[in-house]
Amino acid sequence: MGRVTVSAIKADVGGYVGHGDVHPDMLDQARLDVRDAVAGGLLIDGSVGACGDDVNLVMTHQRGVDAEEIHRFAWETFVEMTQIAKRLHLYGAGQDLLADAFSGNIRGSGPGVAELEIDERPSEPVIVFAADKTEPGAWNLPLYKIFCDPFNTAGLVIDTKMHGGFTVEVHDLIEHRRIFFRCPKDLYDLLVYIGTPSRYVIKHVFRGDEPDEPVAVTSTSRLSLIAGRYVGKDDPIMVVRCQSGLPAVGEVLEPFAYPHLVAGWMRGSHNGPLMPCHMDHSQPARFDGPPRVVGMGFQVADGKLVGPRDMLGNASFDRAREKANEIADYMRRMGPFEPERLPAEAMEYTTLPQVAEDLAARWRPIEAGGDSLPQRLSEGTSDTHAAEDLLHRLPRS
Ligand code: 13P
Ligand code: 13P
Ligand code: MG
Ligand code: MG
Repeated sequence: MGRVTVSAIKADVGGYVGHGDVHPDMLDQARLDVRDAVAGGLLIDGSVGACGDDVNLVMTHQRGVDAEEIHRFAWETFVEMTQIAKRLHLYGAGQDLLADAFSGNIRGSGPGVAELEIDERPSEPVIVFAADKTEPGAWNLPLYKIFCDPFNTAGLVIDTKMHGGFTVEVHDLIEHRRIFFRCPKDLYDLLVYIGTPSRYVIKHVFRGDEPDEPVAVTSTSRLSLIAGRYVGKDDPIMVVRCQSGLPAVGEVLEPFAYPHLVAGWMRGSHNGPLMPCHMDHSQPARFDGPPRVVGMGFQVADGKLVGPRDMLGNASFDRAREKANEIADYMRRMGPFEPERLPAEAMEYTTLPQVAEDLAARWRPIEAGGDSLPQRLSEGTSDTHAAEDLLHRLPRS
């Protein structure tokens, strides 16, 4: 049937309650829009899903990657959902729509986009992963395991069609440049970068040396880098093709049995374990989290999306959920201390610098000897009496 494009586009356009969920009325609206777009011939098929407060549209069509009509459809759907969010006074209505209007491509305007154009195989199993309370680099570790680690993916050793390895494309989100690593040859070089997931993110994985055959794609937008300030987290989405010369479905799911630490929990300012979730139970709760991921499985059949089937809700991920809760207990006890709280560089895009700005005037150079304690205290507060009062209450030496 020719080439088929799978477009997975997500956005947070209003949270119910707080940053916890997508309101059912918003999902109903998106489903209506998708149904109309299929009936009108824009899409071959579409599916509406959610993870936490992020809604995702998984769409198939024949217009290729970055097609203006598809991006416009997603943008307009998010705008309609935003109107519902506004009417219900949901939290952060329109949060991820950073541009005032659609300008030809949805990338760079807030929503996360992961698209790949494929020659549909006789059987085409695809998994779309969506995560909440984290950032695009959260996929680095699972993608590394899926496509580069023979201890995760037996097929890298056993399957002649996979034995040649994969090519990994990494984007530098700060310098806006990209680099390709031919793995396993370049494994150590790849790890130089993807261990810093806040900056270097895996964008695509290709089969062997075939740059036309993307087998995985992620969304890479960082809202704070677009807006220059904290505007919610860049909750990411990714699409991974499976089987017949690619990692088996179980090999693609396997990394999520280990809840690795990711950035983005509570106010986008904390590290926490990525908890695999049921599609119907993906709402964050504790400390607005912990960070979570759902897996939506589809068989693409003549461009139609057969599914979704819930991939991470299975009992075989119960232990990972328990482990994530244990890790959450451990991490939370550090409260506002790093590394539970993100490092200072990452906090630059939060509201913390404003607080530090208010305190700036109280800082004084450290001098050798000199001034007395009352003087120093009064310099450090706006009220000399309060400083003296504090001095009286200090233990005498
Ligand atoms: P395929 O090589 O047909 O994708 O099957 C791999 C497999 O056996 C899954 O466990
Ligand atoms: P979202 O990015 O999912 O809206 O979450 C914001 C947040 O940090 C809640 O604590
Ligand atoms: Mg939100
Ligand atoms: Mg979110």
